[in-house]
Amino acid sequence: MPAPALLLSVYPAWRQGLQDHYALVLWIWLGLGLLAFLGSLRTDAPYGRHQRGGWGPELNNRLAWFLMEVPVLLCFHYAFWTGPGPKTGPFLLFAGLFSLHYGYRALIYPWRLRTGRKRMPWAVASMAILFNIGNGTLLGHGLGHPTAFGLEGLLGGFGPGDLGWNWGQGLAAGTSAAAASDMSWPTLPWSGGALARVGLGMLLFLGGWTVNVVADNYLIGLRRRSGENASETTNAATGQSGTSQYRIPQHPLFRKVSCPNHGAEMLEWIGFALLTMHPAAMVFAAWTILNVLPRSLAHHRWYRAHFPDYPPERKALVPGVL
Ligand SMILES: NC(=O)c1ccc[n+]([C@@H]2O[C@H](COP(=O)([O-])OP(=O)(O)OC[C@H]3O[C@@H](n4cnc5c(N)ncnc54)[C@H](OP(=O)(O)O)[C@@H]3O)[C@@H](O)[C@H]2O)c1
Repeated sequence: MPAPALLLSVYPAWRQGLQDHYALVLWIWLGLGLLAFLGSLRTDAPYGRHQRGGWGPELNNRLAWFLMEVPVLLCFHYAFWTGPGPKTGPFLLFAGLFSLHYGYRALIYPWRLRTGRKRMPWAVASMAILFNIGNGTLLGHGLGHPTAFGLEGLLGGFGPGDLGWNWGQGLAAGTSAAAASDMSWPTLPWSGGALARVGLGMLLFLGGWTVNVVADNYLIGLRRRSGENASETTNAATGQSGTSQYRIPQHPLFRKVSCPNHGAEMLEWIGFALLTMHPAAMVFAAWTILNVLPRSLAHHRWYRAHFPDYPPERKALVPGVL
């Protein structure tokens, strides 16, 4: 059975169990993120510039990106739309923003890459597919099932008070359709804090997404079209395949840091967490940081090791700090 069909048939059977143990599952998910973080601090994930042999069978790099990212869209939308929760303005906005990011990442980004016949180990792609299945399902489920909402389940009552909307309480089990449809923008318990939070969340998400896309596009454009067969070229100095196809980024976004695309992606999901105040979004923001930070550090080390004239003041991720 193809993976998406398997997935979509498993979720309905597990839906109630996930609902009953949602907070526990999120904690376990966060724990896995920490393990992945420790693992990737020790070993650079072997794809892109860090690609190297010894990781088993491989597949085309662009196809890998497509296969890695599509499941998150499928799982998110399946869990969200089949859930009994309201599909009112706030929920549609959250689903729309999530789809903006992953629609681009899954359906457009892979085919824009100039990595030609470069390959990625199935081991890396499979781990990313599993992560994306988990992340899409947890977020789609949470946004589609009102009672899975609320920080109280995750933080044992130590939520941010006035800054949050208590989605869980407002939409407790058995809530009528009328009450559920009340969860629209005008009926939310607005306060100064909530307004500031929503504004900041939107700013971080949209600003982060824009910088992420602009920086990624710039990097993709750095590789000349003639370098499409990057996997076939070998840099004599390093012996690493495709190394000669890399150049030092000179775009203003890269003046202070090596990986503005990574930093922007972190800000984007922090913004999403602020906006939704959803535990799964908070865990995803943490996962993104745990996942991307080691990659930024690895990229930065790689630039320093391969370009003697790499700007010395440039940091990996945070200007002047890290
Ligand atoms: N949410 C998450 O957990 C997560 C995890 C990882 C990545 N991401 C996101 O996925 C995107 C890609 O990440 P990444 O680390 O794989 O990207 P990356 O290394 O920054 O590369 C992006 C593209 O540009 C090329 N490239 C990068 N630097 C170049 C240079 N100096 N000269 C020529 N070409 C260059 C790369 O080619 P090569 O592939 O051949 O190096 C790749 O095709 C980012 O937006 C990142 O934020 C998200």
